[in-house]
Amino acid sequence: MEKYYLKNMLLGFVAVSLLSCAGKRTEVGDFHVIPLPQEVDENPGSPPFIISSSTTICYPEGNEKMERTAHFLASYIKEVSGTNVNVATSAGKDRILLELDSTITNKEGYELAVTPEQVILKGATEAGVFYGIQTIHKALPLTKGSAAAALPSGTVRDYPRFGYRGFMVDVCRHFFPVDYVKEIIDMLALHNINYFHWHLSDDQGWRIEIKKYPRLTEIGSYRKETIVSPGAKEYDGIPVSGYYTQEEAEEIVRYAADRFITVIPEIDMPGHMLAALASYPELGCTGGPYEIPGRFGVFDNVLCGGNERTLQFAKDVLEEIMDIFPSEYIHIGGDECPKVKWRACPKCQAKIRELGLRATHEHTSENQLQAYFMGEVEKTINARGRKMLGWDEILEGNPTKTSIVMAWTGVKGGVKAAQLQHQTIVCPISHLYFSNPGYNRLKGVTSIARVYNFEPVFDVLNDDEKKNIMGTQGCIWTEWTKDSVKMEWQMMPRISALSELQWTEPEKKNLDNFLGRLRHQLDLYTLKGYHYKQDIEDVVIDLNPTGQDGHASVSMVTFDNAEIRYTLDGTEPDASSHLYEGPFEIGSDAVIRAVAVRNGKKSGIAEEKPQYNLATMRPVELHSLPEERFTYKGGSLLVDGLFGDDNYRSGRYIGIYGQDLDITVDLQEEREISSVFVNTYLVPGDYIFGLAGLEVYASCSEETPQRIASKAIPVLEKGTKNNIPRKEEISFNRTKARYVRIVGKITPQLPSWHPGAGAKTFLFVDEIGIN
Ligand code: ACM
Ligand code: ZN
Repeated sequence: MEKYYLKNMLLGFVAVSLLSCAGKRTEVGDFHVIPLPQEVDENPGSPPFIISSSTTICYPEGNEKMERTAHFLASYIKEVSGTNVNVATSAGKDRILLELDSTITNKEGYELAVTPEQVILKGATEAGVFYGIQTIHKALPLTKGSAAAALPSGTVRDYPRFGYRGFMVDVCRHFFPVDYVKEIIDMLALHNINYFHWHLSDDQGWRIEIKKYPRLTEIGSYRKETIVSPGAKEYDGIPVSGYYTQEEAEEIVRYAADRFITVIPEIDMPGHMLAALASYPELGCTGGPYEIPGRFGVFDNVLCGGNERTLQFAKDVLEEIMDIFPSEYIHIGGDECPKVKWRACPKCQAKIRELGLRATHEHTSENQLQAYFMGEVEKTINARGRKMLGWDEILEGNPTKTSIVMAWTGVKGGVKAAQLQHQTIVCPISHLYFSNPGYNRLKGVTSIARVYNFEPVFDVLNDDEKKNIMGTQGCIWTEWTKDSVKMEWQMMPRISALSELQWTEPEKKNLDNFLGRLRHQLDLYTLKGYHYKQDIEDVVIDLNPTGQDGHASVSMVTFDNAEIRYTLDGTEPDASSHLYEGPFEIGSDAVIRAVAVRNGKKSGIAEEKPQYNLATMRPVELHSLPEERFTYKGGSLLVDGLFGDDNYRSGRYIGIYGQDLDITVDLQEEREISSVFVNTYLVPGDYIFGLAGLEVYASCSEETPQRIASKAIPVLEKGTKNNIPRKEEISFNRTKARYVRIVGKITPQLPSWHPGAGAKTFLFVDEIGIN
């Protein structure tokens, strides 16, 4: 416990207890909140500013926004400290003064000056003042009436790194009512997020009233049922329905605006339109009939790109959308729009001829038809002084340079968009999709670190291109998010890491320091009744080679340096198990189980089961180059004794594209060997195939190893299921060797039965072994 206290003294939030003159205990907060302000200068030599029922929050008379902000601050103070303060346009002393100051250069910037007598909060604009009150909100100790709350004397100078700080929520796959959308907006405000991207239409549901097309909600907002789990064939029989009336949407816009959040509506077109097609079948290439699907993915039926009525529909819908939403940015989707129907559609093909679109090396004529469609829609948007936003697939069709790109497919998409001089919002599925079942297997600190350490202004960009990065965004898609608890687990606490990515200058960011500040944020979540994901409280067990005798160094961490207790024999750890006091070594099979103990309460159990063979924890040289997003620890991951977890994006596999696996293991002494295995994972649907061959080379010294065994492996057959682990083994006559090179031949191309026939394949490997 001592360590925990010390770390937080050094790094993070700590409420210092004092006794005030009147004898009531006072707790002093800390301005090192999340997101971390750019400059905090606390003055511990000076007494704090104590909040009491005689404190008054003052706002400039006649400024409604500041008045509202003053009341927000009063409500936050009441919530965290239990104290009712006053709100007025003037007060002599004992005041928190809210002011505008046009000398502050960043329009969302603010400055806070705290003395024992008063707090002065100046913002460049009302938005700046709002971020200042969020800092006060999070800096206050959570005394809830048990003590007086105080702010430390000192100053804070703060501004956001990015002007665009977004969060997206899909309300189509599952619907969330108005009151809950407001709660989400409160959560965003707590994290200084200023754009709420509202995904309002998709295949599985249309969620916004459009007066000119009433069937969109009469028919399009209702789906009969949903599949029970990813990839399942069974349906749950439970209808999903709901939509927002225009009045309700306007209410959300106002609610968000009061919190300095702009709502960006998204109507996803021309793909992801089955709910609209089911409502108005004449908008599709074939005329339907169409059904609103209860399963997920990408569907071939999309809006017809060659039908003037379709374009008119899109424009009509957007006119009403722009009436409801004053946002400068209007999102029109543009993602995942297959062109199979367009290729076979006389109207689409006639339009392609009429426009004289010709396939180029980079852009098919159908992709250019989509660019034309979006370009026409963009004119409607621009005519009202707004800007068009689309997902990064719009780059497939050479869009207008004024289109703003939301780069989700990966880092490459963001790089390409910025290099093509598009304003770019960075939200790669690999790091900032908080709902993706694949990318969300990381737990606790590891999942936080993946978000926190992501840098959205990519190194490969030059300085001019870097300026095109407007900001970054987290996204929640709700295929598997049926309720608010799951919504909040997916958001929190990673949204804290996201907020620091969005707000704090990178040179001021530090993961350990952030983790030191996280306890207070989690306590604030609890106070507000937000369901953060509890595994942040669990131990993370890490195994790394010591370099000696195949031993592993086992280290255990928690985000807050909590007490850790562990066992090595598979029994359940408790408060009397071994106390973790620092890294220790193992050199053989073990079942490591650990819990964090806080105030006598145990966290969930973390577990690792290293299984040893001759290669385990030995030095390796990986000659192949894994894909950057699937590299993780690199070659050592293949000999860590840990097998995969049936999810290729979990961090327990490395992923190689279009190359052989080629790795040399140094057994560090001559050993007799007679077999080798490579453990792979097959997901043919995602182009992840198995090995086509296996070769083993061996030598006793550093000279080039000689081939001692090889075998060919048949290409996966049609009908091979997704998500299957496969161990490929090869045995040979006993041989003495120290250096063993293993070459796993990749399937050179997707076979003719595969929809992507001819393309290169991926190879995913979790472990190799030598016996
Ligand atoms: C997307 O995830 N299809 C934007
Ligand atoms: Zn068509």
